[in-house]
Amino acid sequence: MIKLIQKLNIFFNKQKKINKLKQLPLHEPILTYHDQKSLKKCLKSGYVSSVGKFVSLFEKKIKKITKSNFVVATVNGTSSLQIALQLVGLKKNEEVLLPSIGFIATANSVLYNNGIPHFVDIEMNHFGMNPDKLQKFFETKTKVKNNLCINKKTTRVIRALIVVHVFGHSAQIRKIIKIAKKYKVRVIEDAAEALGSFNNRKHLGTFGDVGILSFNGNKIITTGGGGAILTKRKSLANKALNLTTTFRKKHKWDYIHNKLGYNFRLPNINAALGVSQLITFKKNLILKRNLFRIYKKLINPYKNYLTLVEEPPFSKSNYWLQTVVLKEEFSKKRNFFLNEFHKKKVFIRPVWKLLHKQKFLMKFPKDNLSNSENLEKRIINLPSSSYLGIKSYDK
Ligand SMILES: Cc1ncc(COP(=O)(O)O)c(C=O)c1O
Repeated sequence: MIKLIQKLNIFFNKQKKINKLKQLPLHEPILTYHDQKSLKKCLKSGYVSSVGKFVSLFEKKIKKITKSNFVVATVNGTSSLQIALQLVGLKKNEEVLLPSIGFIATANSVLYNNGIPHFVDIEMNHFGMNPDKLQKFFETKTKVKNNLCINKKTTRVIRALIVVHVFGHSAQIRKIIKIAKKYKVRVIEDAAEALGSFNNRKHLGTFGDVGILSFNGNKIITTGGGGAILTKRKSLANKALNLTTTFRKKHKWDYIHNKLGYNFRLPNINAALGVSQLITFKKNLILKRNLFRIYKKLINPYKNYLTLVEEPPFSKSNYWLQTVVLKEEFSKKRNFFLNEFHKKKVFIRPVWKLLHKQKFLMKFPKDNLSNSENLEKRIINLPSSSYLGIKSYDK
């Protein structure tokens, strides 16, 4: 273990030197002169807020990458999830199945809609929702009545499930959709971390009823803050557009709002950054894959202690966050491992605290979560900025 820490530190020191950095964050955006140019252009236009040509241009470009029929850009991934749940018809006190390993936004978005989060388990290899456990859950704990899935214990409707593609790796989304269809449950894909990731050549976020992306500063491209809703159906895209623009009717001067809506549309200035970020996006994907190979070479000789997470065989990952899983017998060494790097200002990170263990979420229902509990102690994310994938990067 000590030898591996030394080897990794040699790599990190080299990278700090090459990139003239005092510390190595977990993930940094790459901001280039393209971004400066695009932002200047937007500023010059005077349209920095809800009107301007960059929003539709950005949506068009995301549409081209994902091949989603419709893309609606929003202020962040969290608001996209909040709207996605409305698009699948979530009503007060209905349940939504979601993994316990994940960012807080998934659970929060259910609560924003007065729904009930219900935690289910994940797979050991790539941390996606576990299709076998899901099937068993539906078989034993639910019944279908009047085309609705009912939780036999709570008697509540289970309206939807949220599949998270964790760290950019594909969940077994095709299997999960089949199961969900059988039990009359709608599927939302949280592809916040997965721009540029595919499952058998189909972009993540385009399988379910609705998918979402995030363009937060820590993602593979950034708009500062930003997100997007992906859907195949025009009616849902129109509804998403209305919901994210306060349901304001198009009119030259009148303020007519047909229903309760939100001010969630991505501002033009953020979209301008998104447009230029996409210029270097393909290069980022290559660099991230290079970084995976670098880590693989460094880490593979130490397979007795830990394994580096590789993309699932049926998919192509964007390798957003590079991840190692400690062998069970070394899970007690996790904090030692974290400390050894933090001391040197290399900010590796454990996985999120499990959602069902967050105080305000403890009261909500949960299935058996043995895999999530087991992995929480063992997952570590390594520094993953794209520039680590080459010797130097023209910032
Ligand atoms: C899996 C996942 N879902 C949702 C979000 C929320 O996105 P945002 O930060 O843009 O609101 C994030 C991260 O930021 C995420 O990692």
